[in-house]
Amino acid sequence: MQAQFITLDGIDGAGKSTNLAVIQNWFETRNLPVLFTREPGGTPVGEALRKILLNPATQAGLRTETLMMFAARCQHIESVIAPALARGTNVVSDRFTDATFAYQGGGRGVPPADIAALENWVQGSLRPDLTILLDVPLKVSMQRIGRNRKKDRFEQEEAAFFTRVRAAYLNRAAADPGRYAVIDSNRTHEAVQQSIEAALNKHFRLRPKSLL
Ligand code: TMP
Repeated sequence: MQAQFITLDGIDGAGKSTNLAVIQNWFETRNLPVLFTREPGGTPVGEALRKILLNPATQAGLRTETLMMFAARCQHIESVIAPALARGTNVVSDRFTDATFAYQGGGRGVPPADIAALENWVQGSLRPDLTILLDVPLKVSMQRIGRNRKKDRFEQEEAAFFTRVRAAYLNRAAADPGRYAVIDSNRTHEAVQQSIEAALNKHFRLRPKSLL
């Protein structure tokens, strides 16, 4: 099997950070080569753009914000993701282009066709092999974000914004069920962990850890 490109996505407060550790552990247990990275970020250019994008003082128009996301992504693909996949290392990215369709598209109203054009230009044929989409009701997301003392530029958005972001994620997943594992993240940590592990086992056609 070729190296796999896996992305983890979902609205703010969906539990990505906690569950990245689950994915990390899954790869470690099986001794599979893997590189963990994130967007926006993953390279010096990307991390610099991340600072600008998440800074509440930044005033950027819709298209500027979208282009910055793709500028960070372009550098990320060229210098990190593509080389890793080419040398046989699986890549797990904490967010990828689904986030642009959800946040800039669903949340801010950038036409999906414009995002798709940038996707084709920047990514060529590169698409995630598997996207783990963590889903929580808005109320849960808002409660979790509310616990952050200092909210970033996106976390400061109102509930209606995140309602649109969540709907965009779920619509994309519904349109391409083969690529997405939609995981109800509003359950116990153990239940979510089991679902993530099951999705990875299925994708890699591996047996559950209990049977190893
Ligand atoms: P996170 O690392 O905590 O997920 O923060 C990244 C923020 O950036 C999050 O609020 C989602 C947002 N984002 C976009 O709006 N568009 C994108 O394409 C990406 C990758 C992230």
